[in-house]
Amino acid sequence: MLPREMRSRLFAHLLRYDGTRVEKIAVKLGDASYEVLIANGLLRNAGKRIVRRCGVPSRCVVITSPRVRKLWGRELERSLSAAKLPFALLTLPDGEQHKTLNTVDGLLKQMAAAGMDRSSLVIAFGGGMVGDVAGFAAATYMRGIPFVQVPTTLLAQVDASIGGKTGVNLPAGKNLVGSFHQPELVLIDPAVLSTLSDREYRAGFFEVIKCGVIRDQKLFAAIEKKPQSFLQRDTASVMKAITASVNVKAEVVSRDEREGGLRRILNFGHTIGHALEADGEYKRLLHGEAVGWGMMAAARLGAALGVTPQKVADRITDVVLKCGPLPRVNSEPAKIMRLIQSDKKTLHGVPHFVLPTAIGETTITANIPPAAIRKVVAGLNQLVAR
Ligand SMILES: NC(=O)c1ccc[n+]([C@@H]2O[C@H](COP(=O)([O-])OP(=O)(O)OC[C@H]3O[C@@H](n4cnc5c(N)ncnc54)[C@H](O)[C@@H]3O)[C@@H](O)[C@H]2O)c1
Ligand SMILES: [Zn+2]
Repeated sequence: MLPREMRSRLFAHLLRYDGTRVEKIAVKLGDASYEVLIANGLLRNAGKRIVRRCGVPSRCVVITSPRVRKLWGRELERSLSAAKLPFALLTLPDGEQHKTLNTVDGLLKQMAAAGMDRSSLVIAFGGGMVGDVAGFAAATYMRGIPFVQVPTTLLAQVDASIGGKTGVNLPAGKNLVGSFHQPELVLIDPAVLSTLSDREYRAGFFEVIKCGVIRDQKLFAAIEKKPQSFLQRDTASVMKAITASVNVKAEVVSRDEREGGLRRILNFGHTIGHALEADGEYKRLLHGEAVGWGMMAAARLGAALGVTPQKVADRITDVVLKCGPLPRVNSEPAKIMRLIQSDKKTLHGVPHFVLPTAIGETTITANIPPAAIRKVVAGLNQLVAR
C-alpha cells in the first residue's frame, strides 16, 4: 500500500490529467463499450481525447447547428486542429421540424462529397436534435461508421447523448425512424451550458430530477434541499447533477441496451408527458417541461392507485414545482387518453406506467383504469408553481 500522501497525489494526477478534474463513467456494452468524460473546459481537449480513443481517422465531419457553431465552434475547431485531426464542418438548421430523413439525405451526400470512408469519424456537436440526426447519419453511412457525441444542452448531456438511440421524425410521429448505434466516446463540458437559456436549462433539469426519482435518492434529496443552487447553475451543483444523472443512465443502459426491461424506467414521466407534448403540437412545451408535468401526473396517479405513498408523491410534486415555472397545461383528458393509446411505446393499446414506490425506486404497471388517468390529467392545471 502506498503512503497516504502519495496515494492522494497519484489520484489527483489521474483526475487532473488535462488540468481539469475529469469524471469518467463507463457504459458497459461488451464490444460496444465506451466512456463518458465530464469536465469543465473539456472542449479545449476534445481533439486530444478523440485521438486517444479513436486514433487519427482518415477524415472527420463535425455536425452542428448554426447557433452552437457560432457560440462554441471556434473552441472545438481549435482543439481538433491542435490534435491534427482533418475535419470539415456541416451545419443543420435548428428546430425539431428539421429532424427528418430529408436532412439526413443532405448530410449523407455531403459526407460522401467530403470523401468520408469506413474509417472516418462523425462528431455530433449540439443538442439532442443534432445528436440524434448526426448519430443516425453515422449509423447508416456505409452501414455504420464511428461517431463521438459532444452534447451542448443539459438535456443532451444527461440523457440524449448516452445510450445509442439515434433517429429522425416522420409526419406520423416523433422518432419513428432510427437505429441503435453507440458512440465511441461522449465528451461533456458543463461550461458550454453558460450560453443556454434558462428555459432550455430548466427543461433539461427535469430529466435530472427524473434520474433522482427513479434511481438516486441522494440526488433527489440534494435538489430538494437546495433547488436554487442547481437552478442558478452553481458550478459544483451542475457538475453533481450531470455526473449523477449520467451514472443513472449509464448503469441502466449497461444492463439493458435495447429497452427490453430495466431501460423502461427511464420513461418515468414520459407516458403522460409525451401526450401533453403532442397535444401542444411540440410548440407549447419543451420535451423536459412535458416530462415535468408527466412526473407530477405519474406521482399523483401512483398515489391514487395506492402504489406511491402520498408523502412521496407530494415530495415529487413539490420539487418539480420549485424548479418551474412550467408553461400551463389545459389539455382535454379524453384527448390525452387517445394520444397515450397511440404512442409508439404503448403495447397493444395498453399503456405502461412507471410509478414511484419510494424516492429512488419504481414499479412498472399496466392496466390502469382510464378513468384514473383522466382524473389526474384533469387535476393538473390546478397545480401552479409556488
Ligand atoms: N437519443 C435519445 O436517447 C434522446 C433522449 C432524449 C431526447 N432526445 C431528442 O433530443 C432532442 C431535444 O434535444 P434538446 O433539448 O437538446 O434540444 P435541441 O437539440 O433542439 O436544442 C435546443 C436549442 O438549444 C440550442 N443550443 C444547443 N446548445 C446550446 C448552448 N450550449 N448554448 C446555447 N444554445 C444552445 C440549439 O441550437 C437549439 O436551438 C429531441 O429531438 C429528442 O427527441 C433523444
Ligand atoms: Zn425524456
